[in-house]
Amino acid sequence: MGGRVIPFQTTILTLFPSMFPGPLGQSLIGKALAEKLWDLAIIDIREFSFNAYKSVDDTPFGGGAGMVLRPDVLDAAYQSLQEKAVGPFYYLSPRGTPLTQEKLVSLSQEAGVTLLCGRYEGVDERFLQKRGIEEVSIGDYILSGGELAAMVLLDGVLRLRPGILGSKESILDESFSNGLLEYPHYTRPQVWEGEAVPEVLVSGHHARICHWRQEMAEKITRERRPDLWHLYEQRKN
Ligand code: ADE
Repeated sequence: MGGRVIPFQTTILTLFPSMFPGPLGQSLIGKALAEKLWDLAIIDIREFSFNAYKSVDDTPFGGGAGMVLRPDVLDAAYQSLQEKAVGPFYYLSPRGTPLTQEKLVSLSQEAGVTLLCGRYEGVDERFLQKRGIEEVSIGDYILSGGELAAMVLLDGVLRLRPGILGSKESILDESFSNGLLEYPHYTRPQVWEGEAVPEVLVSGHHARICHWRQEMAEKITRERRPDLWHLYEQRKN
C-alpha cells in the first residue's frame, strides 16, 4: 500500500442525523468510509436549539404554509464547526446553482465539503446572506429535504477521489467527462433473445471499436440531449 491518504472531510448539518451514512455506507464508497479514505461528521441542528422544546423553526413572517429554520439556531450550529468544516459550504436547495459533473470534479480536488440540509419551507434568508452561503440544486424538482440531495452530491464527489473506485479509466471514459452520453455496453451471452451484439465489438479490432463507440456516443447524445450536443459542437469548433 502507498502512503496514508488524508481523508476527504465531509460535514453535514441536518435535523435527521440518522439518515446518514445511509446509502453512502454501502458498496465501494461505504468501504472507503470504513477505510477512512473519507470522513463523515454529522451535526444535529436540533442540539443548537435555545429552548426546552428543542424547537429549531418558526412560522414565516408574512404568513403562508410551513415553517422556516431560525437563523440564530442555524448560526449556533455553523459556529460550532470550526476546524471540522474544510472546503466550500453549500446549502442544498432547489433554488441553487445546478450541480454539474464539472463542479463535482472541482469539489473532488478540495480538502472536503460542508453541506446544510434544509427541511420544511426553507431557512431564514438572513442566515444565507450574512454567512455568504452558496446554494446548490441537484435538479429542477422538489425533494422534501436536502438530505437526499446531499447524498447525491457526496456520492458524485467521492467516486472521483483517488483510491475509491477501482479503475481510473472507467471514470475518464464515462458520460459527461467528454461532454457526450455513453455508448451502449454489451456482455455475454453473445446472442440473447435472438439479438446478437454488434459485430464490431467481437472483431478484436481496437481502432474500429473506438471509432464505433465514438459514433454511437455522438448519435445517442444528438437524439436524447440536443442541449448537450449543441455544447459539444460549440466546444469542438
Ligand atoms: N432540497 C429539496 N429539493 C432539492 C433539490 N432539487 N436540490 C437540492 N436540494 C433540494
